[in-house]
Amino acid sequence: MNIGIIGSGGREHAICQSIKKSPKVKKIYCFPGNAGTSELAENIDIDISNFNKIKEFSIFNKISLIIVGPEKPLVDGIVDFFKDSEINIFGPDKISSQLEGSKIFTKKICETYKIPTAKFGIFKNYTEAITFLDKTQFPLVVKADGLASGKGVYICENKDKANIAIQEIFNGKFGIAKNVLIEEFLVGEEMSYFVISDGKEIQNFETAQDHKRVLEGDKGDNTGGMGAYSPSRLINKDLEEKILNKIIKPTIKALKEMGSNYKGFLYAGLMIVNREPFLIEYNVRMGDPECQTILPKLKTDLLEIIEACCNKKLKNLNVEWYDQKSLCVVLCSKGYPDKYSKNILIKNITKLNLDKSDFIYHAGTKKIKDKIYSNGGRVINFVSLSSNFKECRNNIFNHINKLNWKNGFFRKDIGHRVIDE
Ligand code: AMP
Ligand code: GLY
Repeated sequence: MNIGIIGSGGREHAICQSIKKSPKVKKIYCFPGNAGTSELAENIDIDISNFNKIKEFSIFNKISLIIVGPEKPLVDGIVDFFKDSEINIFGPDKISSQLEGSKIFTKKICETYKIPTAKFGIFKNYTEAITFLDKTQFPLVVKADGLASGKGVYICENKDKANIAIQEIFNGKFGIAKNVLIEEFLVGEEMSYFVISDGKEIQNFETAQDHKRVLEGDKGDNTGGMGAYSPSRLINKDLEEKILNKIIKPTIKALKEMGSNYKGFLYAGLMIVNREPFLIEYNVRMGDPECQTILPKLKTDLLEIIEACCNKKLKNLNVEWYDQKSLCVVLCSKGYPDKYSKNILIKNITKLNLDKSDFIYHAGTKKIKDKIYSNGGRVINFVSLSSNFKECRNNIFNHINKLNWKNGFFRKDIGHRVIDE
C-alpha cells in the first residue's frame, strides 16, 4: 500500500523509518519531509495547511493511509476533512484535538470528570486576572489558551512577572486571546505517558521524559525539546493504573460523550507529586523528540498497529517492545531557539557508521545535489539503545564528535536524572 506522512521533523523521519520496515508498504510520500525522509520516501512540497491539495495528490497517487505527525493540521480538522473519502487518516478529529488546541477545553474536562490537575482559574480580561493576583500565592503558572509551539506558558515567581505574562497574552502574542489561564504551580517530577487509541480501546505506547530547556541543568528558554529518554524512571504498575483510571480513561469517555471517538496517539504530560499523577497538558500526537526515542524500542510492526487503530481492532493486537533503554540527543543550530543560520553544510553526515542499535533522525535538514544542509533550529536527532542510559549517551557523543559540525550545539546532560555522573 501507499502511505502519506504529514510533517517534516525528527518525529516524522522516525515514523517513516518504522513504517518502511513493514512488508505491506509499497511507497511512502512525505508532506513535505526532510533530507532524511527523502532517502526512504518521496518528499512532496505541498503546504500542509492546504488539505485540498493533499487530498487531490493522495487520490491521484493511490495513497490509502495518511499519518499526521504535527498538531496544527489535527487541530485545524484534517481528519474531519478526510472523513468521507476512501483514505484512512490516522489522528484524532477536530473535537478531540481540542485537548491540545485549547488548554481551557482540557481543564473543563478535568473539572467535570474530576481528573487530577493543577488548581486553576480562567480569566476573561486583564483586570479580572490582575485582581486575582492580589489574593493568591506565588509561584504560579500563566498560560495562553491556544497552540503556541510550547511558548505560551509562563512560570511566574512574583506578581510583576505574572503581570507581564497576562499583558503579553492579552496583547495577542499568541494570537487573539479571549481568556487567560492561571494555574497552581505543581512541585514534582514530570513524565510523559503515551497511549494509542482506536476509539474503543487504548494501549500503552511507552513513557519518556524530555528536556525542554535549552541550557544544561534544565535552564534557559523553552525549546521544542533538546533530548529525551525512555522509559521514565517513575513508571511502575501502580502509577500506570492511576494514570489510566484517573486521567486517560475519563478523558476518552468525556470525548465520547461529546461525539468524538479518539483515534491516534495521545500524549499526556504529567507531574508526579508524591506518587500521584496530575495532568499538566495533553498533546494529540507523538512528542518530538519522544517519538524518535520510543519508536526504536518497538518490536511490533508500526503499520500493523496504525491499521488496527483505523479498523477499530486494537483489542486483538499485542504491542511488543524491546526491553531496552533509549536516549535521544538533539543537535541544534547555534543560536536556537532564537536566531540561527540556515543552509550550513553538514559535511560528515554520510560518513557516520551506525551500529544496529544507533539511529539518526533528521529534523531541520534539506538535500541539495546529494549534499545535506541545515534548514532549521533542531537539526539532527541522535538516538541509541542499550541496557543502560549512560552507554546510550556515550554512543551518541561518539557520533556527534565524529560529525564535528561546527555550527551545532547540544546538551551534554540529557538524562541527568537517570545517569550517575
Ligand atoms: P505545557 O506546555 O503546558 O506542557 O507547559 C510547559 C512546561 O511548563 C511543562 O513541561 C512544565 O515543566 C511547566 N508547567 C506547566 N504547567 C505547570 C504547573 N501547573 N506546575 C508546574 N509546572 C508547570
Ligand atoms: N517534546 C515536547 C513535545 O513534543 O511537545
